[in-house]
Amino acid sequence: MNAVAVNPRKREVSLINHPAPDISAPTEVKFRTLEVGICGTDREICRFDYGNPPIGSDHLVLGHEGLGLVTEVGSDVHQIKPGDLVVPMVRRPCQHEHCLPCRSGRSDFCTTGDFVERGIKECHGFMTEYVVDHEQYLCVVPPDLRDVAVLMEPLTVAEKALIQIWQIQKRLHWECPVVEGKAPGHCRQAVVLGAGPIGILGAMALKVAGFQTTVYSRSKPPNLKSELVESFGARYISSETTQPEVLAQMLGNIDVVYEGVGGAKVAFDVLKVLGLNGIFVFTGIPGFPLPHIMIDGELIMRNMVLKNQVALGTVNAGRDAFEASIHDLGIFMQRWPEAVRSLITGRHKLGNAKELLLGKATGIKNVLEVG
Ligand code: BGC
Ligand code: ZN
Repeated sequence: MNAVAVNPRKREVSLINHPAPDISAPTEVKFRTLEVGICGTDREICRFDYGNPPIGSDHLVLGHEGLGLVTEVGSDVHQIKPGDLVVPMVRRPCQHEHCLPCRSGRSDFCTTGDFVERGIKECHGFMTEYVVDHEQYLCVVPPDLRDVAVLMEPLTVAEKALIQIWQIQKRLHWECPVVEGKAPGHCRQAVVLGAGPIGILGAMALKVAGFQTTVYSRSKPPNLKSELVESFGARYISSETTQPEVLAQMLGNIDVVYEGVGGAKVAFDVLKVLGLNGIFVFTGIPGFPLPHIMIDGELIMRNMVLKNQVALGTVNAGRDAFEASIHDLGIFMQRWPEAVRSLITGRHKLGNAKELLLGKATGIKNVLEVG
């Protein structure tokens, strides 16, 4: 089978021949990979800054944003059948008895660090023709989402963030007054940092949750991304022309910031203007090297206390976020099909993976068509 793999010891990214997997346990499912999304994490692995091959292997098959078509199921598989579209979850639990999150099906909160992640950490990924995995790690996707279902995994980042936002903000039990036809966030201002796939999908999820949503990103409008953002009813403001303080004046109390840029400078500059009772969610992972930067620590701490603020980081996603992602992607497609489709700016053959992974990042979401 063809596969795209990285060999950190040889510092090589290449198309390799990888043995085809077979079902070897009754709870396993075999699927043919249809598409795999490429993201910053893949590019970082290809710079040998992150990720590891499985123990005993020289190479790691890449790919964690998968979409597959089920071809075969084990005798103890009950919810999934051949012909189903599936999106695989990424993380698999550690083996330690004392890791309560992993033992409770929430390896996304693993406390030992010995989890593995498909296509990232010690477990082969989805940039190959066939994959076998256990039923419990696969999510069935409705066939009408086939064209855009490769966006499901990146959307789980926003969904896990939103689940936590609602949980934390339960402390504000006087939330928005109920208004017929309006979602629960309707009296709240959300700012999304970054207009990459994580930012834009996050902005869509916040819109569906009812938030008045502004995407704050570098490039001056009008541009492709600002037009895309405005096409689904969010506002676009450029950080090049509008300082965070001005942004806060324009918007009023900023209730939620959803960070999707992976850079500390803009993140902490915006944290400074987070509103009363506000919540700031970090999702971006700054890449190496990690230079020291100046932040207004005293002011930020003063605000965090005097304004009852919360900042949290979030990584990976559990089944709840995958389910929410399937649900929301369906809503996005009903409301803004063109905007969702336009997030996928390139579909490429497996043979072109190397150039995509190592070359300059272009477009919004690039996808490999596997089969
Ligand atoms: C993936 C997550 C993963 C994280 C850290 C992200 O790109 O979407 O599933 O946990 O990288 O490895
Ligand atoms: Zn990713």
